[in-house]
Amino acid sequence: MSRYNEVKEQLLISPKVWLITGVAGFIGSNLLETLLLLNQKVIGLDNFATGHQYNFDEVESIVTQKQWGNFTFIEGDIRDFNTCEKSVLGVDYILHQAALGSVPRSITDPILTNSANITGFLNLLTAAKDANISSFTYAASSSTYGDHPALPKVEEHIGNPLSPYAVTKYVNELYADVFAKTYGFHATGLRYFNVFGKRQDPNGAYAAVIPKWTSTMINSDELFINGDGETSRDFCFIDNTVQMNILAATAPKEARGTIYNVALGDRTTLNDLFIAIKEALLGNEVNVKTEPTYRDFRAGDVRHSQADISKAQRELGYKPEFKISEGIAKAMPWYVKFLG
Ligand SMILES: NC(=O)c1ccc[n+]([C@@H]2O[C@H](COP(=O)([O-])OP(=O)(O)OC[C@H]3O[C@@H](n4cnc5c(N)ncnc54)[C@H](O)[C@@H]3O)[C@@H](O)[C@H]2O)c1
Repeated sequence: MSRYNEVKEQLLISPKVWLITGVAGFIGSNLLETLLLLNQKVIGLDNFATGHQYNFDEVESIVTQKQWGNFTFIEGDIRDFNTCEKSVLGVDYILHQAALGSVPRSITDPILTNSANITGFLNLLTAAKDANISSFTYAASSSTYGDHPALPKVEEHIGNPLSPYAVTKYVNELYADVFAKTYGFHATGLRYFNVFGKRQDPNGAYAAVIPKWTSTMINSDELFINGDGETSRDFCFIDNTVQMNILAATAPKEARGTIYNVALGDRTTLNDLFIAIKEALLGNEVNVKTEPTYRDFRAGDVRHSQADISKAQRELGYKPEFKISEGIAKAMPWYVKFLG
C-alpha cells in the first residue's frame, strides 16, 4: 500500500484538527474538500482577498452534512497577529496557503504582496511556534529557483529571485530556517510548481495560464502566448499537491523541517499546453476556434522549469497520481460548467 493510502486510513481511524489558511482559494478549498471527506476537523482562515464564498458552497455540496459540520471558518487576515493566535488554538496540523500569488501582481504592487506573504507568514509562524504546534507545512514556490539555470531543479540549488513575489517566497524559507535554528521550531516548505485543477480562478488580471486560456478558448477571445511558446513548465495537478500536503504534514519528525519540490517531474511547453487544453475542450464538446497570438516575453518569467521530485518520493513516499493530460481532462468539465 502507498504511504498516502496508509496515512488516509490512519486519519480516518484517528481524526485530527487541521488549520488551512487561504481556505477559500484554489489550493486551500481543495485541501478542505479532501480533509473533510476524510472526516477531519478543519479550521479555515481567509480574508477573501482572492478566495471566494462559492468555493465553500461547492465543497459543501460535495461532502456530507456531518462532514461539513466539522468545518469552522474564521474570516480574518494573517497580517493581524491576534487572528493568527486565535486560529492556531487546539490545532494538530497547519497547512499555510494564504498569500497573494502571481508574479505580475507583485511587480505592480510589491508592498501589498510583501505584507501578505512576509508579514502574514511571520505572524502565523510565530503564533504556531508560541502555541507549540507540532506540524507546520507552508506553500513555498518554484519561483525561488529564480535565475538558476540547472534543470531539473534540485532543492539545494537556487538562484537569485526574479520578481518581488519570488523574494517573498524565499524569505518564507529563510524565516523557517532561522526559526528552526533559533527556536527549534521546524516548518516544512513545499515548493509548488504551477499547480492547476478545479476551482483555480479563471477571472481577473492575475489568472494563471491554464484557467486563463481555458476561459479564453471557451469564450472565443484572443489568446496570447508570451514569447515563442517554447517556454516550459512542470504543471502539477491539484490532487498531487493535496497528496504532498497531507504526506508532509503527517511525516515523521526527521522528514519535516525541510523543503520539498511539489510537481510531476516533467516539462510541458506553452505550445503543447495550448494543444492539450484545446483537445480536452473538444472532448467536452467545446469547439475551439481560437489560435494563439505570440507577443513579447513577460518580465520576471523564467524560461524553463522542471522539478526533481526524488526527495519527496524518497522521504515522504510521494507518488504523483495524475500526469498533465489526465489532470487537464479532469479539470475541463469543471471549467465548462463554471464558465458556461
Ligand atoms: N497555484 C500555484 O500554481 C502556486 C504555485 C506556487 C505557489 N503557490 C502558493 O500556494 C498558495 C495558494 O495559492 P492558490 O493558487 O490557491 O491561490 P489563491 O489566490 O486561490 O488562494 C490564496 C488564498 O489566500 C487568501 N489570502 C490572501 N491574503 C490573505 C491574508 N492576508 N489573510 C488571509 N487570507 C489571505 C486569499 O483570499 C485566497 O483565498 C499561495 O501561498 C501561493 O503563493 C501557488
